[in-house]
Amino acid sequence: MKNATGRLATGIALALALTTLPALASMNLALDKGCLSCHGSPPRGKAPTIAQLADRYVPLKGQEDQIAGKIGHLREHHLFGGVPAHERLSAEEAERFVRWLVDGGR
Ligand code: HEC
Repeated sequence: MKNATGRLATGIALALALTTLPALASMNLALDKGCLSCHGSPPRGKAPTIAQLADRYVPLKGQEDQIAGKIGHLREHHLFGGVPAHERLSAEEAERFVRWLVDGGR
């Protein structure tokens, strides 16, 4: 019962965030998926910060083939040195996150 209620609450919160605040929804996605444990400030290890990622992605705006490449690349499985948090992203989550970065990551 507690779990079902929790899931419902999360679902409602997510639905609200998705419909009303797309940028915030992507930030919440980053938080939910633990992205900020590496990409926050300070970043962990050699991970770039969200701001550094945005600097890298903003110039791709309008270049759909480049953006699609980034979305696919992020989720690719790497035998060595891969990031499990990247590989666990759904296609839809990866797209939302990359597009959020292309729009400046804020
Ligand atoms: C365990 C640490 C860690 C976590 C957690 C993590 N990342 Fe990363 N991420 C890295 C590192 C290190 C790099 C740079 C090396 C690379 O590109 O693989 C990176 C690179 C990236 C890039 C740039 C890829 C490119 O080639 O341009 C994106 C976008 C990204 N991460 C998004 C995310 C998202 C979204 C999440 C949450 C689902 C996430 N990361 C979670 C460590 C992490």
